[in-house]
Amino acid sequence: MQSQDILPFTRPDIDDDTIAGVVEVLRSGWITTGPWCARFEQALSEFFGGRAVLVYASGTVTMEVALKLLDIGPGDEVMTTPLSWVATSNVVLAVGATPVFVDIDPVTRNIDARRIEAAITPRTRAILPVHLAGLPADLEAINALAERHGLRVIEDAAQAIGSLWQGRRIGSFGDFASFSFHPNKNITSIEGGCLVLPEGADVDLARRLRLQGVQRSGLDGMDVDVVGGKSNLTDVAARVGWGQLQRLEAFNARRRDLASQYFAACDAIGLEARGVQLPPRDLVQSNWHMFQIVPPAQVQRAALMQALKDRGITTGVHYPPIHLFSLYRARGFKPGDFPEAERVGASILTLPLFPAMLDSDVTRVTAALDAVLRQFGL
Ligand SMILES: Cc1ncc(COP(=O)(O)O)c(C=O)c1O
Repeated sequence: MQSQDILPFTRPDIDDDTIAGVVEVLRSGWITTGPWCARFEQALSEFFGGRAVLVYASGTVTMEVALKLLDIGPGDEVMTTPLSWVATSNVVLAVGATPVFVDIDPVTRNIDARRIEAAITPRTRAILPVHLAGLPADLEAINALAERHGLRVIEDAAQAIGSLWQGRRIGSFGDFASFSFHPNKNITSIEGGCLVLPEGADVDLARRLRLQGVQRSGLDGMDVDVVGGKSNLTDVAARVGWGQLQRLEAFNARRRDLASQYFAACDAIGLEARGVQLPPRDLVQSNWHMFQIVPPAQVQRAALMQALKDRGITTGVHYPPIHLFSLYRARGFKPGDFPEAERVGASILTLPLFPAMLDSDVTRVTAALDAVLRQFGL
């Protein structure tokens, strides 16, 4: 990439072997769910330490399936963070249950585990923590709380493939874990996702929920006993995902390397002293799905994004607080309910970070930030 090209905030990296593999699948005569989905599931299961894994058409639907497997529905409450992609709480609404938000820890930007217990009611059935930007939420505290109160945990690990918690891969332990393979994620299957199921979960039901509730037997037998969706993955997508999984460790190593360069470059221009909050300096556990800064409130984010864009640098917003969307306001949420999520959500900015980015891109971004923030009087 030439240094003056437009720098996106992320970009998928599909290698020639995968592209050739996709062509083979397309020519094979079997392009929807088939042998490559099975192979992708097997590889993911090995990655997660031998646990049961099913692939689906999206990360969103995997969370919905987990909620259905737990029979969570009307009258039930699910506790989650207001600072996430809206899918996280939309799936709770989709099964007819009630999302209960708990404010974030402003340092990690994840659900503040210290605030969870106070929000538990007799209706609470599950905690749905999000590992935002790939930084694990406090699973020790969350799993302990869940155990103490008889709750289930569905980890929204959409952004956290390859992240570690106390030396163990996210998804390789605990209750349910849901991952997304959307093109912005650390590995992609174009669209897609997978659900890691705990011991004792009804894997067969999870499979039926994926495709119209259909159960086949023998050569011609078929029964349907549950309303299933249409959320199977295609073999074309699975071939892309499998090819990406082979490169995940290398991708994540490069992301960690770039994150460490970002910290050095941000320190060199004294960003923190100028009031800009950096992400936690976790170069071990996070998979560095995103590098996000929180400028002080006086900086208008849209103006900052425009000024960076004028210098060829694309940034992103992940995310505005969910409870202030119309759908949620209509359910009674209002400004002031979750002040930390509101403050962070109003300012948070995702800087470019993807494995194919050049080292020089990091300094290009921070030099632009330095200049633009000066214009804003910082
Ligand atoms: C935190 C979070 N949760 C859920 C999802 C949903 O995943 P998908 O887009 O694959 O449905 C995403 C990604 O888009 C996400 O970032």
